[in-house]
Amino acid sequence: MASKHEQAWRAAIEDPESFWAEAAEGIDWESRWDAVLDGNATAGYRWFQGATLNTCFNAVDRHVDGGRAEQRALVYDSPITGQQRTFTYAELKDEVAKTAGMLRNLGVDTGDRVIIYMPMVPEAVFAMLACARIGAIHSVVFGGFAAKELATRIDDAQPKVVLTASCGIEPGRIVEYKPLLEAASELASFQYDACVVLQRQQHRCELNDARDRDWATLLQEAEPADCVPVAATDPLYILYTSGTTGKPKGVVRDNGGHAVAMHWSLGNVYGMQPGETFWAASDIGWVVGHSYIVYAPLICGCTTILFEGKPVGTPDPGAFWRVIDEHRVDVLFTAPTALRAIKREDPAAEYVGKHDISTLRTLFLAGERADPPSIEWAEKSLGVPVIDHWWQTETGWAIASNCLGIEQLPVKRGSPARAVPGFDVRCLDDGGNEVEPGQPGALCVRLPMPPGCLATLWHDEAGYRSAYMEQFPGYYSTSDAGFVDQDGYVWVMSRTDDIINTAGHRLSTGAMEEVLATHPDVAECAVIGVADATKGQVPVGFAVLSAGATRSHADVCEDIVGMVRETIGPVAAYKKTAIVARLPKTRSGKILRSTMRRIADGVDYDVPATIDDPAILDETRVALEAVGLGKKTEQD
Ligand code: COA
Ligand code: AMP
Repeated sequence: MASKHEQAWRAAIEDPESFWAEAAEGIDWESRWDAVLDGNATAGYRWFQGATLNTCFNAVDRHVDGGRAEQRALVYDSPITGQQRTFTYAELKDEVAKTAGMLRNLGVDTGDRVIIYMPMVPEAVFAMLACARIGAIHSVVFGGFAAKELATRIDDAQPKVVLTASCGIEPGRIVEYKPLLEAASELASFQYDACVVLQRQQHRCELNDARDRDWATLLQEAEPADCVPVAATDPLYILYTSGTTGKPKGVVRDNGGHAVAMHWSLGNVYGMQPGETFWAASDIGWVVGHSYIVYAPLICGCTTILFEGKPVGTPDPGAFWRVIDEHRVDVLFTAPTALRAIKREDPAAEYVGKHDISTLRTLFLAGERADPPSIEWAEKSLGVPVIDHWWQTETGWAIASNCLGIEQLPVKRGSPARAVPGFDVRCLDDGGNEVEPGQPGALCVRLPMPPGCLATLWHDEAGYRSAYMEQFPGYYSTSDAGFVDQDGYVWVMSRTDDIINTAGHRLSTGAMEEVLATHPDVAECAVIGVADATKGQVPVGFAVLSAGATRSHADVCEDIVGMVRETIGPVAAYKKTAIVARLPKTRSGKILRSTMRRIADGVDYDVPATIDDPAILDETRVALEAVGLGKKTEQD
C-alpha cells in the first residue's frame, strides 16, 4: 500500500485544484476565488484567481479575534544587546496597526513598495506585517549587503519609503545603516520620498537629510490602520536574490497562494500545531526569515522567535540551546553552517547539557547541502530527528522534505528525502528527457508549481521566463543538479550556474567577477567557490594582471578584498585571490571552473580533453598553494 506521503503527493499532483482548495480552508478569505488554478504551464498560471484576502489579518487579527489574544506571538531574544521582549497577539496587532498607520501618513498606498533595511528587531517584523496590512509591497534587504547592492534594489523596486535603523550589531562592531543608505541613495537614480529611522540606543544617528524622519515620533502621531483586502494574486513582497549577473532577481510572491502554502507547510512539513513555538534561526533578509520567522508561524497561530545573535560567540556555542530552553521551542530550523560552527567550538556538545532542551522535537536544516557528519553529530547531541530539506528563494518553501506532519520517512543522510506534495520533481538530461533513477541530471519541477512559489520577477516577466521556464519547456528549472534514487529520494549535489552558498548565504560568483574586473590592474579574472569546513563554500578569485600593472601582487589582492566588501558586502566573505599568469581554458576559450575548483579543494581531477594547454593546471595549483589552498584533503 502507498505510504501516507505517497498518497498525499499523488493527490496533489493528480488533482491540484481539489488538494489546494482543501488546504485553502486554513485561510480566512474576504471573498473566495473564481478558479483555484487558472491558466496553464505555457501561458502562465495563477492560484486563487478572483479571491481577496489580507495576509496580515490571517497572521495577526484573526488570532486575536479567535482566542489567542494573550498567547505569545513574537519573542525577541537578542543576546547581542542583552534584551528580550515578548509580544502577545493582541500586542502584535497594536504594534502592526500603528506601524501601518505610520506608513499611511507617509502616503504609502496599496501596491506601493517599501524597502526595509533593518536588523533583527521587532520593528522590522511589524513593518513587514504593516505593509501586508495596507496592501503595500515590502522588500527586505539583508543588513550584510553593501551600499551598491542596496542601490540596485532601490532602483529596481522604486520604493516610496525606506525603513531603516540607526545600526545593526555584529559581534565586536556596530554596523551603521544610515551612511550605507546615504551611499546607496547617491548611487541610485531613483529617489524615494522618505526615510524613517528607528534610533537604537547602541548607536544613534543624525537625521540630516530632508527626507529623514524619526520612527518613534511618526509612530506617536499615527492612528492604527485597518487591514485592506487585496487580490490573492497581488504581490505581497519582492525578495531579491542572487542571479548569475550583478543584477539580482526580484522574486515576487503573491498573497493568496503564499498564505495557503505557509499554512499548509508549517503543519504538514514541520508537524507544527497552533499554539506551539517555532524558531527559524535565520535572518528576515532571507527567504527563510520571510516564510518561517514571520509568515508561516503567525498565520498558523504559533509563537515565533526573532533571534538577534549568532550560533557561536553570543556568548558561547550554547546560545541555541539556551533559547530553546528559555522559550520552550518545539521545532528549530537552521542552516548546516550554524551547526558546523557550533560543532567546531563544542565538539562534545557539552553546552547542550547545560540547558533543558526537552521541548525540542525536531531540527530542520536547509540553505545548503547538509553534510552527513554534521547531521549525525546533531542527531547524537540533541537526541531528536534531524531533517534536511531542500528549497530556494524562488519556491518560498520546501521542494523536497521528510514531511513530519504527514509521516516520518526513513532518513538517508545527505538527501532531503522525497518531493513535497505539490512539487513534481523530475531529473532531466540536457535534452529534457527524464533520466533513470540514480542517474545525474538537472533537477526540475513539472509545471504548475504549487501555491506560494514565485509569481514572476519584479517588472521582468521575460527574465522570469528565460531564467526558469525556457531551458526545459513545461518545467521550472531549479538550477540545481543531482539525482533521484530508486526510492524517490532527491539528492541535491550542486548548482548548474555560478551561484555559491557561503554560510547558507546565496552569492553569485559572476557578480564578484564583475567587481574584480573593474580593478585597473586586472586584465582577466574568475571567481569560484571552494570548500570550507565551516561555511560550506567560500569564494576565491583568480586574477591575471595587465602588462602595465604597477601595484604589487599583495596590494592588488588587498584592493580586491576591499572592493568586494564595498560593492557586495561583508557577507560575501571574500578573502583570497590567486594571481595567475593565465586562466585554464578549453580550446574554445571556456574557463575550466570545475577543474579549478577540484584543484583548490585538493581532490583528484582529470585533465579535460578539451584543455588548451595542460601545463596550465600545474601553474594554477602553484598559485592556489600560495594562498593556502589546493592541498590534498580527505573528501567527505
Ligand atoms: N549585517 C551586517 N554585517 C553582517 C550581517 C548583517 N546582518 N551578517 C553578517 N555580516 C558580516 C559579518 O559581521 C562578517 O563580517 P566580517 O568580515 O567583518 O567579520 C561577514 O558579514 C561574514 O559573516 P558570516 O557569514 O555571518 O560569517 P561569520 O564568520 O561572522 O559567522 C557563522 C559564521 C557560521 C556563525 C554565521 O555565518 C552564521 O550564523 N550562519 C548561519 C547563516 C544562516 O542562518 N543563514 C540562513 C539561511 S537558512
Ligand atoms: P536560497 O535561494 O538562498 O535559499 O538558496 C537556494 C539554493 O541553496 C538551492 O538552489 C540549493 O543550491 C541550495 N540548497 C538549499 N537547501 C538545500 C539542501 N537541503 N540541500 C542542498 N542544497 C540546498
